[in-house]
Amino acid sequence: MSADAMQHTDVLIIGAGLAGLSAALSLPKHLNITVLSKSALEVCSSHYAQGGIAASLDKNDSVHAHVADTLIAGAALCDVDNTQRILSAGQAAIEWLCAQGVPFTQEPTSTDVTGSNALHLTKEGGHGCRRVAHAEDATGRYVMQTLIAKAQAADNITLLPYHEALSLLTTDTPAGTRCCGAHVYASHNDTVMSIHSAAVILASGGLGQMFARASAPDVCIGDGVMMAWQAGCRLANLEFVQFHPTGLALADSSFLISEALRGEGAHLYCPNTGKRFMPDYDARAELAPRDIVARAIATEIQNNGLGYVHLNISHLPAEFITAHFPQIYQTLLTHGIDITRDPIPVAPTAHYSCGGVVADTDGMTDVQGLYAAGEVAYTGLHGANRLASNSLLECVVVGRNIAAHLPQYLAHQTRWQAPSVDNILPITLPNNVAKKSKAKQSTNRQNTHTRFTDSQFPESVANVAGALKQLMSRNMGITRTEAGLSEALQQVRSWQDDVQQGINNASNLSISEKIAYQRIQRQLSLAALMLQSARLRCESRGGHTRLDFPMSNDTAAVSVIAPIAPNVGS
Ligand code: SIN
Repeated sequence: MSADAMQHTDVLIIGAGLAGLSAALSLPKHLNITVLSKSALEVCSSHYAQGGIAASLDKNDSVHAHVADTLIAGAALCDVDNTQRILSAGQAAIEWLCAQGVPFTQEPTSTDVTGSNALHLTKEGGHGCRRVAHAEDATGRYVMQTLIAKAQAADNITLLPYHEALSLLTTDTPAGTRCCGAHVYASHNDTVMSIHSAAVILASGGLGQMFARASAPDVCIGDGVMMAWQAGCRLANLEFVQFHPTGLALADSSFLISEALRGEGAHLYCPNTGKRFMPDYDARAELAPRDIVARAIATEIQNNGLGYVHLNISHLPAEFITAHFPQIYQTLLTHGIDITRDPIPVAPTAHYSCGGVVADTDGMTDVQGLYAAGEVAYTGLHGANRLASNSLLECVVVGRNIAAHLPQYLAHQTRWQAPSVDNILPITLPNNVAKKSKAKQSTNRQNTHTRFTDSQFPESVANVAGALKQLMSRNMGITRTEAGLSEALQQVRSWQDDVQQGINNASNLSISEKIAYQRIQRQLSLAALMLQSARLRCESRGGHTRLDFPMSNDTAAVSVIAPIAPNVGS
């Protein structure tokens, strides 16, 4: 696809969520910064985050205790050094957000150590104490409104909504591959341009929309992960998709019921029997780490056949509920549910990718000049199961670390150092699953072939995207088996063939149609990588439950996949 126009900027940031804007606002003001948002600025996962930001702020808490809780939730798969580095910057991150003007909920009687900011701290699953700073029950919305306003007011920052990065621009240097911008699609005027930059920050969010039920907005299809892979970056732990236990189970709603409800005392019940079931699964009951609660709910749903369980907070005073959870209260009222009186139907929903592009705590990836932060990145903080509310903290800490490191890189004052990963699970990708196999794949009887012709476009692409989500939810959901994963992989390869054939046959496609093809190709490649990673992890650990391998291996190892042929000079 040829680029129509060329632009230059010092730093290109792909993604206008919390990681992207924390970096943008912390970079030196003399740098010219361009920030891309695929859709409207507020369409990002950070905006929808409810619970809050975890940091050891209470005088009875400590970084050590926060690290310990994170390592337990992460099922021995966290990178301990990186976890310590990120969590020890928690208090400074909250102070920076307060300085930006984020209206965190205050608690005059709290024992918060930030002095004048006496923040109310809430509790969530896996945390040993109250540790989560929040703004009512819409933390992400308040944080993002504050940072977007700051970025809009900054002379050196250009925000480009409705601009989608398609691929990274790279160049070969004696020191390795270097990233120098991106091809970008401007959907408002249907044009493609190349934006050249001295450095790129990938902050494009996650991959929730690879699944049928997801808390993430439609834009989160994992394209950042695939762009980095195509540029030559390693990916890690793609099999660890976190399912949030309590998505609202009404029609196709993507609304989340914050874990903070359980933190404040809400309980989970079987709708048929009225029995509170979590104490039967774990001594921490509703406040066990997320993987445990999500698995328990999935088991209950399988047994009750209803598609949901009940979350109930109505035993608490109505004034407390409406004061602490105004957004959830109002949203559910529009569905005819008064949470001060009624139980809430909930079911697990795809929520967070614990794996991603291998990066260190300064955001450095395998490709020079390409930084990654937020959900797109794998720093090892989340291990096999992310501790609630650690993700927004990681966005701020790594985003700001990048802002400190990047000027040194530009001034050639620091050597680019590819991130190191300890304890690697050996994964070799047979036939490089990311690229369509040259040989025709055999198909089983359940495979659905979709022969594309011009006249069927774009319906056939939308059909594959929809069917892919169903497939991933069914075969790569909370529980997995070799049979289900390999069947899904075979189906994905068959669709890859179909899409390629559609591209070969197509003529006179518009730019937006070509991009739709490119999107589905990338989603199918990502699905293949995720399925292959899940197949090759023959154990159960954290969010990865293999019914055919119910035990954890003695040693926790990170699954790392490396591109066979880095895509240089594109
Ligand atoms: C929630 O409020 O339950 C979501 C917070 C998170 O995912 O960390």
